[in-house]
Amino acid sequence: MTPEEPSPAEPPGRIFVGRKLELGELRVGLHRALAGRGGVILVAGEPGIGKSELADRLGNEAASRGAEVLWGRSWEGEGAPPYWRWAQIIRAHLEAGAGADLASLFGVATPYVAQIVPELRDRLPDLPVPPPLDSEQARFRLFDAITTYLKRAAEIRSLVLILDDLHWADKPSLLLLRFLAREMGASRLLVVATYRDVEVSRGHPLAEVLPSLRQERTVERLLLRGLPEEDVRAMLVALRGENVPETLARAISHETEGNPFFVQEIVRHLVDEGVLGGEGVQRTRDPQPPASPQPRRDRCTPFERSRSRAAAGRRSSRGAS
Ligand SMILES: Nc1ncnc2c1ncn2[C@@H]1O[C@H](COP(=O)(O)OP(=O)(O)OP(=O)(O)O)[C@@H](O)[C@H]1O
Ligand SMILES: [Mg+2]
Repeated sequence: MTPEEPSPAEPPGRIFVGRKLELGELRVGLHRALAGRGGVILVAGEPGIGKSELADRLGNEAASRGAEVLWGRSWEGEGAPPYWRWAQIIRAHLEAGAGADLASLFGVATPYVAQIVPELRDRLPDLPVPPPLDSEQARFRLFDAITTYLKRAAEIRSLVLILDDLHWADKPSLLLLRFLAREMGASRLLVVATYRDVEVSRGHPLAEVLPSLRQERTVERLLLRGLPEEDVRAMLVALRGENVPETLARAISHETEGNPFFVQEIVRHLVDEGVLGGEGVQRTRDPQPPASPQPRRDRCTPFERSRSRAAAGRRSSRGAS
């Protein structure tokens, strides 16, 4: 399959419109990684713009081409330990059958890795206790061990790691990503990492790591913008299962600036208001530009509220931990 070909793996029951160019870019990265030229693609954009959805699509394609796809997701509550995403990835990989000979997987660095994946200690109870991870040397050992492990694993089966919501990641996790990015150029490893660019302000851990991360030659960035009007219209048709009046589609596209999450929310709102019928599209009155007259940036609080509701639904539907 070439990078231009359409996805063979459409998840049933979920709609997806547009994003051909963006998926094309991700496919090029996947193509390269499968051929032994690994890299990192940072997918940036505002909340709800479709970063996770796009990563998910790419993940499905990668899986259908034989790669192993592992997600490292954020933990929404307090108290997630450092390296949480990486721990999820290593754990999932070990559970998927890797590591018959655990001790040799991470070599002398196994005790360091066990600090972020404590189950290793259950399986290897005689592991020595290493120095705390905050020492520079211990951190280097840990980064080197995980990087070597992932590169070796990808020699057996190509690996696609999806690190979601990097704007919530702890700094050590980001430093590990940068370390990996430096070392992965000749591997069959692709990392797709999503983050909300609007949340990366000065002093934020990601703001500190991003400049040097982006300088790595293996790293590229894909900025997601709003869907164009024709895609918003296609999304409305797919959501409603019927055609949608042109003026309404245009108004929704304008109001949402093509943010797919917001398009979904507005459709829900318009059904509640009786502008759209529950079954298909029924024009019960002249379609109006959706309710609020203010620009959408002024309404970020309710937007954020409904976002978390949708995020919760999405997590359960994807079976995230
Ligand atoms: N191209 C698309 N076509 C149809 N629906 C889409 C598309 N992209 C995203 N969506 C839908 O829009 C919603 C928001 O998308 P998604 O969760 O990927 O946003 P996000 O950028 O990851 O947001 P956040 O920063 O909050 O994680 C989801 O319900 C998703 O299914
Ligand atoms: Mg997301």
